[in-house]
Amino acid sequence: MNEINLLLNKSSHTKDDLIKLLSCSPGTETELILQKALEVKANTVGRKVYLRGLIELSNVCSNNCYYCGIRAANKSVERYTLTDEEVMHCAIFAWRQGFGSLVIQTGEQRGPRFTAYIERLLRKIHEQTNHELSITLSCGEQSLEVYKRWRSAGAHRYLFRIETTNKELYYKIHPHNRRHSFENRLQALRYLREAGYQVGTGVMIGLPGQSLSDLADDLMFFRSIDIDMVGMGPYIEHEETPLFAYAHQLWPVEERFRMGLLMIALLRITMPYINIAASTALETLDIYGRQKGILAGANVVMPNLTPVQNRKQYQLYHNKPNLDKDATLSTVSLSVIIKEIGETICLFKPGDSLHFLNRTQRDPIQQ
Ligand code: 5AD
Repeated sequence: MNEINLLLNKSSHTKDDLIKLLSCSPGTETELILQKALEVKANTVGRKVYLRGLIELSNVCSNNCYYCGIRAANKSVERYTLTDEEVMHCAIFAWRQGFGSLVIQTGEQRGPRFTAYIERLLRKIHEQTNHELSITLSCGEQSLEVYKRWRSAGAHRYLFRIETTNKELYYKIHPHNRRHSFENRLQALRYLREAGYQVGTGVMIGLPGQSLSDLADDLMFFRSIDIDMVGMGPYIEHEETPLFAYAHQLWPVEERFRMGLLMIALLRITMPYINIAASTALETLDIYGRQKGILAGANVVMPNLTPVQNRKQYQLYHNKPNLDKDATLSTVSLSVIIKEIGETICLFKPGDSLHFLNRTQRDPIQQ
């Protein structure tokens, strides 16, 4: 325990330090790390939570990631794309509720029609919500030109998870071809920075064959590329995917959950000013997952605004929560739980990454 305290009090952490911290035992040692992260959170980004209304725009996907339920080869998924009206309904709901921000997520699609579709939606949302929402895209790997076009049409942030920074492991969970290239993903993160986005990435935690050294590398990677936002969460198996064959190798659910919290906590400690999301995957493994994620250092939650009839078709993994809750219900329950844990929901605020503002502006706006 003394060693954990000594490590926590260091001002910067090596990979070895992070491995030691990730190796802490459940119970008191883990609690020490989580408490430290909450202290860091309180002193930096504050005990605040920002909301991003999540719109799962389309589950059409041309990729075949071995872990993901909506992979192209999964023929049992009924594919959908929301109409402009459906999207506008979600966006206006978010705006009226005081969410500062939206996340638009899709399966991987490329091409001029898709580019134009996203561009049109971005402009329409801004026009109809008085330019008061900030918009995050999570629409996969695209060219620099496409990233720039969407940026000009009003997307502020972009999420693109690297999934794991261990290249060998990466190719165990993705086909080894151009469409799923590890190098292209890294390049995409650089393009996003160049196009002027607040850039987010993330990893899955507890993948078959993943080690604590890999997770420590992931944390070092976020720091080395000076990332602005991170969304990461436990890997959850899905029966209709190739990776399900390795389900017997997985850490038990409680352990994957604990590692999910520890990763958030260590990230908050090592990158105090970035935005960190409490992922839906955390909530899937533990009914208090979101609250625990926030108390471990997360400051962003993404209530799902996708029309209820489409949610079943956006199952990246099994047992995804809130399949039948409509947006109003999940917003109300969310504000209750966030208040209960002593945090404040910041409504009508964009909730930009302070890390990004510190990097790009001389006088960051304190939010
Ligand atoms: N378990 C956990 N997270 C998953 N994702 C996709 N499939 C799974 C799964 N089975 C995550 C990936 C992706 C994000 C949109 O969802 O990290 O980037």
